[in-house]
Amino acid sequence: MKYFLDSAKIDEIREAYDTFGIDGVTTNPNHIMNSGKPFKTVLGELAAFVEEKDIVGWEKFPISVEINPHLDDADEMVSMAKEISALCPNFVIKIPCTMAGITAARRLEQMGIRTNLTLVFSASQALIAAKNHSLFVSPFIGWKENSGEDCTQYIQDIVDIYANYDFLGETQIICAAVRNGKQFVDCAAAGADIVTAGLQVFKDSFYHPFTDYGLAKFQAAWDKTII
Ligand code: E4P
Repeated sequence: MKYFLDSAKIDEIREAYDTFGIDGVTTNPNHIMNSGKPFKTVLGELAAFVEEKDIVGWEKFPISVEINPHLDDADEMVSMAKEISALCPNFVIKIPCTMAGITAARRLEQMGIRTNLTLVFSASQALIAAKNHSLFVSPFIGWKENSGEDCTQYIQDIVDIYANYDFLGETQIICAAVRNGKQFVDCAAAGADIVTAGLQVFKDSFYHPFTDYGLAKFQAAWDKTII
């Protein structure tokens, strides 16, 4: 399972890449706002980052960038997507799973611009993303679990449906808004392709107090040993 960082902060992206080798990045308008920088500046930083790391191209390191969320016309969505896509070959266009978004994503894929159908909250939404050949589909986990739903069956259903019709791998399942290590494990157990989460969620998922306990024990033993 691949790890994507859900962030638009270049220092976080750099840290996650250098410490645990993230496989890609997802952004959204909220993350861009939280970066405190203008939209185009953030896109420029992302484009410079992939040049510096020699990972140019969406096949090597996909970066999802969302179009203006106010757009509700497929022509306008396609036009903005083309503009963003021209800025960097790593950019995958994130489009909401609305009727206009589905239409725009279908057209973009037909012209070779890769898409990530986002704000997906049901298996039937995930199915249309695959039928239209989107590169990614982003079912949100955290938001549903925050409101009391258990997402293990939801993710398993999407994986099973994709397997039934040979969509697995063609449209890659990004489990989004992942909040903790248990959700990572649930997504991996179901066979999801990717999880995307914030930097602190990854850090917390790598931490276990027994590792610290064991380290202290071994340090004490080391100190009493003739080296
Ligand atoms: C995924 O691609 C989204 O950017 C993301 O997970 C949105 O949710 P969050 O910001 O609440 O985590």
